[in-house]
Amino acid sequence: EKGNYRHFMEKEIHEQPEVIARTLTHYVDPFRLVVRPFESIDFKQYDRILIVACGTAGYAGQVAGYWIEQIAGMPVRNEVASEFRYRDPAVSKRDLALFISQSGETADTLAAMRFCKDRGLTTAVVVNAAHSTMAREADIALPTLAGPEIGVASTKAFTCQLAALAMIAINAGRARGHIDANREKELVTGLLEAPRDVSKALEMEDEAKRIAGELTQSRSVLYLGRGVYYPLAQEGALKLKEISYLHAEAYAAGELKHGPIALIEENLPVVVVAPHDHLWDKTMSTMQEVAARGARVILVTDSAGLAACDVKREDVILLPDCAPIASPIVAAVAIQLLAYHAAVYKGTDVDQPRNLAKSVTVE
Ligand code: M6R
Repeated sequence: EKGNYRHFMEKEIHEQPEVIARTLTHYVDPFRLVVRPFESIDFKQYDRILIVACGTAGYAGQVAGYWIEQIAGMPVRNEVASEFRYRDPAVSKRDLALFISQSGETADTLAAMRFCKDRGLTTAVVVNAAHSTMAREADIALPTLAGPEIGVASTKAFTCQLAALAMIAINAGRARGHIDANREKELVTGLLEAPRDVSKALEMEDEAKRIAGELTQSRSVLYLGRGVYYPLAQEGALKLKEISYLHAEAYAAGELKHGPIALIEENLPVVVVAPHDHLWDKTMSTMQEVAARGARVILVTDSAGLAACDVKREDVILLPDCAPIASPIVAAVAIQLLAYHAAVYKGTDVDQPRNLAKSVTVE
């Protein structure tokens, strides 16, 4: 049931504070502010985490890649399932094979999981559909508690995947002695605030709606980000394409000079996903370059980012201030709202976009 919402996607965007909280509660001991250990995974046993998924789940996996390297000091390899399964990939039993899927039925991800199982790897899945094939077949199922996701465009499943993946990174970091108890507490506290931060982020819906209306006047939109915000930029471009049918592309901001800067022309909308972090100055200089070429910069940032920004921008989506670990979750709300409202402006079938299925169970 959609309740008072026009579309399931809108409802699912607004459910995020609640379902992220539910997902976090599953993993966290709220009294001690630690992540409950996963009895079934001994992170010291593995040399590397292999993350395999498709689409939006793959972008959640990329964010996790940054987190796991930083928080656990563990090498990560991110794989697109359809490439991985046909490549004869070199894997080792000292790899932990981690799959991510909302439906637990995506054909390529499932085939990649079976491939890893056949080779004797331990398989874990971050999965939303508790009774799905992947949940059953994986050695370890790590749930997201987003509830049923009806809209074809994944929203609440994505942010819940990020919440569960952050838990994996923290667990791995502790098990491998890469973070101490204080750091763990700091990370957990930051994540527990994410539901409230996401509620605040939802308050900028009117602003996102206005900007989305302007995006629909263009034929193409570019998304830029660095570090953890690079997968967010990719997720933003995917979301916009799939429901509004506007052409969108995402680049790692540092790659701009290696080709795509040639695309920048007067009035091209460029969405820069850049809450303030250690890469801020770098992202700013890229922003400067696109603005100088007449692009319409739409900056997605927080108050520290806004205060430090001296580049001419057309619009700002101001995110609430939050802990760095929660920031990709909060930034996701902005890109979801932009895509959703662009699609509503265009009058597309938001929940059932053309040519797409909710779960891709055939190749
Ligand atoms: O069910 P899964 O998470 O395995 O699905 C993976 C992708 O098909 C899915 O995320 C797709 O990219 C979404 N339509 C994106 O919004």
